[in-house]
Amino acid sequence: MAQKASAESPVAARRDSEGKATGAASAAIRLSGISKTYPGGTQKAVNSLSLEIADGEVFTLLGPSGCGKTTTLRMVAGLEEPDDGAIYFGEKPVVDFAHGINLPPEKRDIGMVFQSYAIWPHMTVEENVGFPLRARKFPRHEIPGRIAKALDLVGMGGMQKRPGPLLSGGQQQRIALARALVTEPRILLLDEPFSNLDAKLREQMRIEVKLLQKRLNIAVLFVTHDQVEALSLSDRIALMKDGVIQQQGSPRMLYEEPVNAFARDFIGRTLLFRGQVRAHNPSGPLAIAVDGAPDCMVFGRSVDPEVKTGDAVFIGVRPEDVEILPAESVNIPSGMMSGVAHAALFLGERIEYQVDVDGQRDIVIFGDRHNPVPEGGRVWLRLRPEGHSVWRNDWSHSEEAN
Ligand SMILES: Nc1ncnc2c1ncn2[C@@H]1O[C@H](COP(=O)(O)OP(=O)(O)O)[C@@H](O)[C@H]1O
Ligand SMILES: [Mg+2]
Repeated sequence: MAQKASAESPVAARRDSEGKATGAASAAIRLSGISKTYPGGTQKAVNSLSLEIADGEVFTLLGPSGCGKTTTLRMVAGLEEPDDGAIYFGEKPVVDFAHGINLPPEKRDIGMVFQSYAIWPHMTVEENVGFPLRARKFPRHEIPGRIAKALDLVGMGGMQKRPGPLLSGGQQQRIALARALVTEPRILLLDEPFSNLDAKLREQMRIEVKLLQKRLNIAVLFVTHDQVEALSLSDRIALMKDGVIQQQGSPRMLYEEPVNAFARDFIGRTLLFRGQVRAHNPSGPLAIAVDGAPDCMVFGRSVDPEVKTGDAVFIGVRPEDVEILPAESVNIPSGMMSGVAHAALFLGERIEYQVDVDGQRDIVIFGDRHNPVPEGGRVWLRLRPEGHSVWRNDWSHSEEAN
């Protein structure tokens, strides 16, 4: 089930605060009904996609490999032509299928960084970073100053003369970023820019890009298949599958209120507990009694309005919303579930227990290393009382999630 943007658009919010009559004017980028089928392709790589990105916003396309992220980005850049729809930068159409408009990449005010180390190895840093300036015929006397400024931005000041081959992977990505920013574009497009870096460097670059983006207040369209990267960098995320946006919203909204099983299982982990609806009302959360735990009642929301009192359901619980306690540490286990932890995997930052939960089935529960539970020991499980997602009792979903 795909759904339109359910988060309040920051574009709309800005329009209100400035009291402008036309909202589209303050969107840095607007995609309207963009589709693309590659020659010989049987399926649309991108299917009628619409979204808006505000000035100064980091907007991320997130989804599994092949879902159409790069194709979308390339259409924004002018490297692919859509079969339908239009893209606006501000109020200016850069491509409009119906009106035969399609500006070449150099006429779009963008900077771009790709996945691979996209610098020219036979050139120096200065030649690499200055390339877009020369290609766009910036006045010669401006070029050295602009290069120096761009290098300062990415923490590579003074490295102008360094040859390409003498740069580390992280430095190469910084140079690629400086090259994307050197023309001071309105929009920065980033396609999995950190995926060739090792984990530590990736984390560092993530933070640097976030700080840089805040300083420049530039609109960023970011592409990644990595949910942690998306959650940590984005103001808003569009989660894609098969060329279609499944859900759009803030990182927190996608994590806490997934609209379908795909969104729920792609972002973070979800534990599914069986239960039964005890009370429902149209506006508030559902009250769910947890199977196998006589006095455990929790609250959650379902995207399915048909879910009613008496229905058997799954309660979607994020791992950090369950606490595992050794049986002997609890005097009065009211509102808790019980079980046996028959396997424990020590992972450093957490311990993963395979717990045979009474009235449920085996569920993996995360515990912390300071309160270990012995293997084979009886345990109590305490669920957060509210804020869970609720799903129809359909085993096909549950097998995906656990
Ligand atoms: N140049 C191309 N020619 C034909 N099919 C392509 C081409 N580029 C991508 N595709 C197909 O389009 C779909 C979307 O690809 P892509 O946009 O690269 O996805 P993502 O970036 O999310 O991994 C995939 O099915 C892919 O195989
Ligand atoms: Mg891609």
